[in-house]
Amino acid sequence: MKELDWSSLGFGYMKTDYNVRCYFKDGKWGELETTTSETINLHMAATCLHYGQEAFEGLKAFRGKDGKIRIFRMEENALRLQHSCRGILMEELPVEKFKEAVMKVVKLNEYFVPPYGSGSSLYIRPLLIGTGAQIGVRPANEYLFLVLVTPVGPYFKEGFKTTPVVILRKYDRAAPLGTGTIKVGGNYAASLVPGAKAHEMGYSAVLYLDAREKRYVDECGPANFFGIKNNTYITPESTSILPSITNKSLIQLAESMGMTVERRQIPVEELSSFEEAGMCGTAAVISPISRIDDMDENKSYIYSEDGKPGKICEKLYNKLQGIQYGDEPDSFGWVTILE
Ligand code: PLP
Ligand code: COI
Repeated sequence: MKELDWSSLGFGYMKTDYNVRCYFKDGKWGELETTTSETINLHMAATCLHYGQEAFEGLKAFRGKDGKIRIFRMEENALRLQHSCRGILMEELPVEKFKEAVMKVVKLNEYFVPPYGSGSSLYIRPLLIGTGAQIGVRPANEYLFLVLVTPVGPYFKEGFKTTPVVILRKYDRAAPLGTGTIKVGGNYAASLVPGAKAHEMGYSAVLYLDAREKRYVDECGPANFFGIKNNTYITPESTSILPSITNKSLIQLAESMGMTVERRQIPVEELSSFEEAGMCGTAAVISPISRIDDMDENKSYIYSEDGKPGKICEKLYNKLQGIQYGDEPDSFGWVTILE
């Protein structure tokens, strides 16, 4: 096979060798199955197709200087998938089954874990879908859990450079008491139109406001939002954002670096007082923000003029990636080394 150009990968799908599957049928989860097939044979009345009964996850595996493969916080993703299942009445997958499937699929596709120093990683995408047929709006009685992997580079093509984001008040991603806290496809479908508009105008993402009042910052398209001022890490508290595992980790890192952490509502006007701002997520890692344009209000909040990330964003980024690639000690117990 032709050697891949690991350091110039974007964030996209590439065929790898195997994916791992597990079926829920007759009231129980079966054994893990391995396949090379990239397709699924699905009933045309499956609930995932008609009623959006599907949830997914995203996590990464990193190759260290020592050649070892490290998977980041996989238990957190297993628990969040269970939370998503409860949100749309899908059968919950046991945490151990999730971990077993993730480790198995990474091991089977070991070749695709990018080398240390390339800046790339292996993206792991678990998916759980309702496969049972229903025509009435009801949960399925059969499910498929699947994990695929694909090697990736940075989500935003600029990598660790600042990019601009935009507030578009005519669009919401999730309702205040809707499905925003779970990782279901419908939220991403709702973000396609505003996301495309933002990209057309040269922005890397939409910064959503709370849907009820449009007074508070919610999150960015595929990532949580944080702002920095007075040695304080500030991130939104909201009933319509995804509880990001990266954000949870950055909160711990910020505290360990002696910063104050505040998780609370962030009024839009407060954006003017931040010294730095960024997006964070598995795919986004930390993507620092250069500028936020509030289109309808004709206002801009500027954090960087030269594309350079702020000092604290950089420190947090280096610490997080250091742990993920194994350059820094795993003092919080976040990493699983693949045997
Ligand atoms: N918010 C949204 C809407 C996301 O899709 C993601 C990505 O998973 C995140 C936030 C970041 O979450 P995490 O850090 O767990 O990847
Ligand atoms: C992730 O960061 O894992 C995501 O799921 C974001 C995006 C690719 C949907």
